[in-house]
Amino acid sequence: MKVSIIGAGNVGASTCYLLVAKEICESVILIDINHSIAQGKAIDLQQASVALVSKTRVKTSNDYKDMENSDVVVITAGVPRREDMSREDLLGINIKIMNEIVINVKKFAPNAIIITVSNPLDMMNYAALKLSGFDKRKVIGMGGILDGARMAHAIIKRLKDKSELVSACVIGAHGERMLPLLSHSFVGKKSVAELFDKETCKEIVNDTKSGGARIIKFLQTSAYYAPAAAIGILIEAILKDKKEMLACSVYLEGEYGISGVSIGVPVIIGKGGIEELKELPLDECELKTLQEAAADLKEQVIVADKFLKENR
Ligand code: APR
Repeated sequence: MKVSIIGAGNVGASTCYLLVAKEICESVILIDINHSIAQGKAIDLQQASVALVSKTRVKTSNDYKDMENSDVVVITAGVPRREDMSREDLLGINIKIMNEIVINVKKFAPNAIIITVSNPLDMMNYAALKLSGFDKRKVIGMGGILDGARMAHAIIKRLKDKSELVSACVIGAHGERMLPLLSHSFVGKKSVAELFDKETCKEIVNDTKSGGARIIKFLQTSAYYAPAAAIGILIEAILKDKKEMLACSVYLEGEYGISGVSIGVPVIIGKGGIEELKELPLDECELKTLQEAAADLKEQVIVADKFLKENR
């Protein structure tokens, strides 16, 4: 089992460390436009692999050809949004980076499953799908697993018994328009909506939505350990054919009354990538919020399609 990680920054390198520590695959290739960074981190990770007596081998390369025979390609490459950048500016820059990478994935790892991580996530997943021409089941955006972990964290913080089993479900766009689902998130067998009063539910939703921004405030950069953990969960579900239900950004064609965008919904993940999409029963308000998030993404799809047309 081979995983290629494109972008050896904070998220890419942390993901690699997790793959090594948990021996999730046999080998990892780290590729970055800044080859010196990729080289330095690869050596550090090789030493970690030896220290941990891990069977996972780490290599670096400045040649995309070394992605050959990858089962999974994780794309974390991109530039972060600066204060003076609009969402469209960021989209324009990162879509160019995505284009360059996907050309190489098509050439050297045409059978791989692509996991997109770079932001703006839903749009990057849309772009990767369109640029690759891959089957839509094989292009998966990692957003909802991370948002779900943030929601579970917000729930656990409010429980007296921290050992209770918590599962949280967040769908929608990865960003301001995410939709934490109180009635589909559970503590044991009780839904969060049943367990907490309205005010606490509101706090849980707000904490989930601001989970990423809160970290940026302290770190001056975006999070990487929880994103890496979420990517690890996704890779493991694919490589171990776990048929696990995970919220991922996927291309919709009519599901939930939405078409032509990639957005977060629960899907079954296994060795074929997205193996099943069972629609969640949503109430009227939840469905409306999801559809509004999709409408917002549709506006960005116009920008992305313009780029795709010009670069065909
Ligand atoms: N090809 C390969 N690597 C590239 C390219 C490219 N064309 N352009 C940029 N990179 C690399 C950078 O050199 C850098 O090492 O992508 C890496 C990004 O790493 P960081 O800046 O540390 O960003 P990180 O925190 O890892 O986040 C990566 O994930 O969660 C999202 O919003 C986040 O979009 C961001 C992505």
